Amino acid sequence: MNTEPESALDLRSPAVLDDPHPVYNRLREEAPVHWNASLGGWILTRHADVRRALRDERLSVEKMGRFEERRSGGEGHADIALLARTLADWMVFNDPPRHRELRRAMQNAFLARDIPVLEANVRAVVEELLEPLGAEGRLDLVADFAHPLPAIVIAELFGMPRAEREQLKSWSDALGRFVLGDVENTAHAAKYGAAARAAQAMAARFHALVEEHRRAPRDDFTQLLLRDGAHLSDDEIVHTLMFVLFAGHETTTNLIASAVLWLVRTPGLMARLRAEPERVADAVEELLRMDGPVQMVFRLAREDVEYGGTAIRAGERVHLVLNAANRDPSVFERPDELDIERGRSRHVSFGPGAHFCLGAPLARLEARVALQGLLARFDRLELEPAAAPLAWRPELVIHGLKALPLRYSGARAP
Ligand code: HEM
Repeated sequence: MNTEPESALDLRSPAVLDDPHPVYNRLREEAPVHWNASLGGWILTRHADVRRALRDERLSVEKMGRFEERRSGGEGHADIALLARTLADWMVFNDPPRHRELRRAMQNAFLARDIPVLEANVRAVVEELLEPLGAEGRLDLVADFAHPLPAIVIAELFGMPRAEREQLKSWSDALGRFVLGDVENTAHAAKYGAAARAAQAMAARFHALVEEHRRAPRDDFTQLLLRDGAHLSDDEIVHTLMFVLFAGHETTTNLIASAVLWLVRTPGLMARLRAEPERVADAVEELLRMDGPVQMVFRLAREDVEYGGTAIRAGERVHLVLNAANRDPSVFERPDELDIERGRSRHVSFGPGAHFCLGAPLARLEARVALQGLLARFDRLELEPAAAPLAWRPELVIHGLKALPLRYSGARAP
């Protein structure tokens, strides 16, 4: 592996972004703790190492300060400073003890008792999005369904009018291009400027939302955040809302789109799930393993650590490749096969550890209800044969389709 030309191991190259598993498999087998020059950091691909690293408090998530320092004085610095201040309040970029303080405010947000209410709301949104479709036709599952769904669900959770969802979506997208490192977008200054303007506008809107909730309390996520986050400043509450909008958006969109792609490519499974909709929850779990929307997370070593006999020095970056760990044959038999009978899955798609995804119940629910809704609605769903080849988004962290053109027929009334 050390003699490999670097380009073959460039995880940003279009070929690898399209299908990263051949590279992940080789890394896992031949160099499970691998220094990758193109990323300037370590890559961990084994399930055991990734699980251990997710729980390892010597690996820090506090990356924002360093990012700002590296860029200080350069082009777009004021924008970067503003973004770094905002992101510094995101729980996902905080180590203990502050992490606990920020996370505590959201601990009750998605408790099991709220799930039936949420399910009814999500089902209504799914039906509303499918409503305008005729008996047969074409749709881009990403733009027409998987993208708007979580945006509407989150707008409603926050207690915002649906009419604002487009705005929320475009703010979240602009922020995403900054946070997620769009590998095609090299115009840094423009990217930072757009993200900074989105962050400012979003913060102003969410401060107003907090005031609205203080004046007239309601029964929603924002109210719960204000109650359980009474120990936080208004800025921290607002930045937490921004984070939740962002965290719950692209992830869910891409899970739904990848899941539908698997179903249209596996017609036997699609037929089975249509007949047994109660098994869709198991399928979602397996699809999270096969094609999780968060490809990797990364950490900074705060001290020297050792993984797989390799020394990682303080200050070095460590990428934990969740989607490689999810296909580790030492944990999953026939890892490249989609098998909804696996039972309780040990996938790491929600990052089990101190930062375990707080939105996991909502994400599972949205994906299940979305798939159940699509399968109940259409007798036939297939890839649009005349469409251009499928393309994946040029991002390292998020694994998602740019578009998913489908043809549908045999629509039933909702
Ligand atoms: C399929 C969809 C989703 C996936 C795969 C996913 C995945 C993840 C992962 C891997 C992390 C850990 C990041 C790290 O350790 O660095 C995380 C954290 C988080 N996610 Fe999700 N997520 C999804 C949906 C959502 C949704 C719908 C919400 C909320 C509406 C949400 C809220 C959060 C929050 C608040 C955290 C931070 C937890 C912390 O730092 O303590 N996520 N998510």
